[in-house]
Amino acid sequence: GTLSATGALKADQPGAPINRYIYGQFSEHLGRGIYDGVWVGEDSKIPNVRGIRTDVVMALKDIKVPVIRWPGGCFADEYRWRDGVGPRDKRPSRKNNWWGGSPESNQFGTHEFMDFAEQVGADPYVSINVGSSDPTEMREWIEYMTSPGDDTLAQERRANGRDKPFKVPVIGIGNESWGCGGEMTPEYYSNEYRRFSAFFHQNADNPAIRVASGSNADDTNWTDVVMKAAARRMDAISLHYYTLPTGDWGKKGSATGFSQQDWVDTFANTLKMDKIIADHSAIMDKYDPEKRVGLYVDEWGTWYDVEKGTNPGHLYQLNTLRDGVLAAANFNIFHHHADRVRLTAIAQTINVLQAMILTEGDKIALTPTYYAYKMYVPFQDSTSLPLDITAPEFSMGGKTIPAFNASAARGKDGKIYIGLASMSPNDEVALTINLGTLKAKSVSGQVLTAARLDAANPIGAPGVVVPVDFKKAKITGGNLVLTLPAKSVVVLTLE
Ligand code: AHR
Repeated sequence: GTLSATGALKADQPGAPINRYIYGQFSEHLGRGIYDGVWVGEDSKIPNVRGIRTDVVMALKDIKVPVIRWPGGCFADEYRWRDGVGPRDKRPSRKNNWWGGSPESNQFGTHEFMDFAEQVGADPYVSINVGSSDPTEMREWIEYMTSPGDDTLAQERRANGRDKPFKVPVIGIGNESWGCGGEMTPEYYSNEYRRFSAFFHQNADNPAIRVASGSNADDTNWTDVVMKAAARRMDAISLHYYTLPTGDWGKKGSATGFSQQDWVDTFANTLKMDKIIADHSAIMDKYDPEKRVGLYVDEWGTWYDVEKGTNPGHLYQLNTLRDGVLAAANFNIFHHHADRVRLTAIAQTINVLQAMILTEGDKIALTPTYYAYKMYVPFQDSTSLPLDITAPEFSMGGKTIPAFNASAARGKDGKIYIGLASMSPNDEVALTINLGTLKAKSVSGQVLTAARLDAANPIGAPGVVVPVDFKKAKITGGNLVLTLPAKSVVVLTLE
């Protein structure tokens, strides 16, 4: 059927800037995320530049990835940076204890990561080992990467092939320190954070945003304790929130072949992101009313049961239309909180959790999630605009979700962009948005949808879930009038 809804755009009341870092990625040494996904080695038959696969770099350039977080995740708190520099044939092999006990060859280390980020055109975000290391190791790694001088660590970097310092604009001090990053209490972590930050030396011409390890989901006590003890010494604090269809880590739910009820449950859970961010923001306001400290949602996305027959520690899952719509629904939430949320990193870029790209040998698939990122590129470094919507609701099995959510912004190019995530499984929505003072003449757009809720793009064949031109919008009498299809992502451009 057709539902109806109205909204109002206030283009004359610009809000917070939408930092391009909101469209960031997380790439951990986990499963086939780095090895196979990014690194194939210089001798591979798969086309590569200095060992880094060309197809993946090209695809990521197209979605203008602004920042990549590496090397973990849980992996980061066991990682020793020295294992990953110097001649590759001399690097030690380690066990990846967090992720299936798989061998870690260290063929991909600091220089290879920086090369990957540079090829993609993204800024590097490096996560430091706090849980099983000390401030000296952190200080020396930062010096190795960023020192412009003649000191021994800078000379070592040059001997390893990099003359100029690497730019490292974002550095995380610990990851999930309440869990895999050291099982710390917030009080203990606060002290550790203060100790590490005392030995964190900035280069004036290569400064880094210092990111404190933040809370799990709705644990606002963590944010409260750490902000109180250390807000002055940090530039951002992180937040991790994953979407499980069932909410149960023992049986999370399947990535494909799911029911309409699973769809509704998944969206009901992912939309909790809005309140989770609002609650942490309110705590941060107590200690940082000027909003100097950013809230970095540097791990988020869907987490399903792994695909049958794959290593449970490798977190390999398929990606469907549900994931694409869910990504857009979260982008809209992040835009609403752009005054605090200035970076996010979806978990994870390739072959792990809610991936942009899946690979099989030399073949790849660009997932529905990838295309949601592509459609939202104009929101990078835009200015958010208020868009008041009253969306109809859809209820099933005791769960209620809105038929859609939305956000608006003025792009760098001066055009107005409206992003819509239609979560309605069956019904389209006839939507009329009053444009207020905005004198727009034309509207164009793109839509991402498919016949099935779990439509996916096969690996090694042209995609079936790809954006196409959207023709069901027009401007008449100061209103934007459109028919929003069920289960879709729509991005409109108003000129
Ligand atoms: O993204 C997978 C894992 O999820 C990360 O390593 C960890 O930080 C989180 O628990």
